[in-house]
Amino acid sequence: MPGTFNEESFRKHLKTKELAKKIHYFSSVSSTNDMAKELAEQGAPHGTLVIAETQTRGRGRLGRTWFSPEGGLWFSLLVRTANFHLVPSHLNFIAGLSVAETSQRAGIDVALRWPNDIYIQGKKVGGILTESKMQGSVVEYFTAGIGLNVNVPESAFPAPLKEEAASFLSVSGKPLNRELLLAHILLVWEKLLEFYPAHGFAPILKIWKKYTPFLGTQVRVDTSSQMVEGEAVDVTLTGSLRVQDIDGLVHEISSGDVRKLWS
Ligand code: BTN
Repeated sequence: MPGTFNEESFRKHLKTKELAKKIHYFSSVSSTNDMAKELAEQGAPHGTLVIAETQTRGRGRLGRTWFSPEGGLWFSLLVRTANFHLVPSHLNFIAGLSVAETSQRAGIDVALRWPNDIYIQGKKVGGILTESKMQGSVVEYFTAGIGLNVNVPESAFPAPLKEEAASFLSVSGKPLNRELLLAHILLVWEKLLEFYPAHGFAPILKIWKKYTPFLGTQVRVDTSSQMVEGEAVDVTLTGSLRVQDIDGLVHEISSGDVRKLWS
């Protein structure tokens, strides 16, 4: 049985200036994203962290449910950017890069698959769901949720998920310190958020691409309106995926599900 999240130990590891200064911890919650949204509506400050041991209605991208048993890191961060303009898709990349850099530091190589699935050894170990509340054409706040199968035992995954999903524990064989992992993810996240207004997205995307072995491979992308097959050639500055099909036509895709062909 994985141990519970130790808030005191997390605070000791945390070196951020603004992020996670307010923490809302739940042993069980419907969805940390929903809870973060509720807190945002009540005026919670930038950087508020919502974390739960389990979620009963964890949500994934494209309306899917997200399996959230004990042992994972299920959290959402409330991001308010009153002082600068943050393009919504860029936050998604910032979150993914924070996870990738932190995992690498912990000695675990992860791969990022557009738009932001987290893979280890060909299996999905995490995902990101970034949502925003608009005030006219301006974003009032973002709720950025990350789910990481950290210390989830392989036996916990139900049959249909076993084929495609894994956990840090199941691939590395050893449990990770979730408090340390989260503290470092948030530190990288904060640094990237500080860097972004002056330097823009291009340098962040450049580092993000180091973690994506999927560029240059053959993929199938399922968008809500079509299925595109071809070579994943690039990710653009707006965060879209460019796929070149067999006829040489380049499709720019802003949302969809990518599968690698011939893995
Ligand atoms: C995906 O890959 O489909 C995204 C999964 C995002 C899951 C996380 S877990 C914490 C936060 N709360 C949710 O309900 N979803 C996100």
